[in-house]
Amino acid sequence: MVRMKTAAGSQRHVATRLDGDKPTVKNDVMQHSLKPTSDVTVTPPPPIHIGSVRIDPPVLQAPMAGFTNYAFRQMVRDYGGVGLQATEMVNARGFVWLDENTAEHPDRLWGVKDEPRPLAVQIWDNQPETMAKVGRRLVEEYGVSIVDINFGCPVKQVTEKAQSGSYLLRVPDTMGAIIERVVQSCAPTPVTAKIRLGCTRDKINAIDVAQVVEGAGAAALTVHGRTAQDMFRGHADWERISEIKPFLKKIPLIGNGDLDSADKAVDVFRRYDIDGIMVARACLGRPWLFAQMAAALQGRPVPPDPTLEEQKQCMLKHYQLVVGRFGEEKGTQLMRKYACCYAQGRHGARHFRRYVAKVSTREGFLHVVDEYFPTEKPDSASQKVVAS
Ligand SMILES: Cc1cc2nc3c(=O)[nH]c(=O)nc-3n(C[C@H](O)[C@H](O)[C@H](O)COP(=O)(O)O)c2cc1C
Repeated sequence: MVRMKTAAGSQRHVATRLDGDKPTVKNDVMQHSLKPTSDVTVTPPPPIHIGSVRIDPPVLQAPMAGFTNYAFRQMVRDYGGVGLQATEMVNARGFVWLDENTAEHPDRLWGVKDEPRPLAVQIWDNQPETMAKVGRRLVEEYGVSIVDINFGCPVKQVTEKAQSGSYLLRVPDTMGAIIERVVQSCAPTPVTAKIRLGCTRDKINAIDVAQVVEGAGAAALTVHGRTAQDMFRGHADWERISEIKPFLKKIPLIGNGDLDSADKAVDVFRRYDIDGIMVARACLGRPWLFAQMAAALQGRPVPPDPTLEEQKQCMLKHYQLVVGRFGEEKGTQLMRKYACCYAQGRHGARHFRRYVAKVSTREGFLHVVDEYFPTEKPDSASQKVVAS
């Protein structure tokens, strides 16, 4: 890998192809068939600093509403390799309302007080004062390492109804006002922002937004390489992400989108001008993915996927954590979607999904897992279905 300085003084990773061709930066990186990382001399990406928080390796677990709760974070931690974990997004006004009316806090903050650091809690809303108040409480009562602000959510309930999330990308000044206020109230705890490239393809404004974010005092910027209009269609545009880097004076740039293997993690660090990466969907049924990425980035042998039996045991541990918190009925219901993620892409996943989608008791869940969770034997799941 070749590195050179940008105007902003940061280390720029100039993309060189594995075969030593001319430097090239491509935005269709995810479609490349990559050589195994073992063939490549890897320079481990240095840790990043978000305020005073050291993130090593610079590989972050993304916030995902409905998924990245305490149980999931625990599973990721067990395998290791993740530099920073994040909660699901928490609505600031919802937090305040719950607290004032029920003296309770959102379920989404389950475990936050007790688990290891560093840990980021993500909040969303559009009222600077409310967000500042909630940010302060997260710092004081929960002792969070980082308060992250969501400016990327494209879901209508958040954008059209609440004029928050990615809606705010069209009004960078408002974003700046929110960040400034939250930074003031959380200091010295760092505040970060997560954005998309823009609202729509013809209104990509990530470079302008990035400068507002840094100017308002944020300590890092994460960019999902799609617009809000894209939702999850197409490919994340890593070229656009890395174009932002020269415009940031000192805060780290974290790229996000479509990373689903150790090879791709190595590849984006090699090709693009980024300081860190964030992984979302691909880790849902594969909490060991971070350990694989960390190994590849450090040039160590990449641990193989756990056996299917080990994956099943991992899922059952996840289940115990969820049921321990939410009770059998709600816990089992919640676990259905995770169970589908664990089975996804494995032989027999379709049958497993069909059966697990209907379970509502612990006994039912364990029975379906026993009968239909994908096994090493290619035919076993389908044979059982035929026999039943
Ligand atoms: C089910 C789901 C829930 C998500 N929830 C959040 C969220 O709460 N906050 C956020 O900033 N992004 C959220 N995202 C977006 C991800 O953090 C990430 O930016 C996006 O999935 C792209 O990364 P990936 O290609 O690695 O999945 C969510 C994505 C998914 C699939």
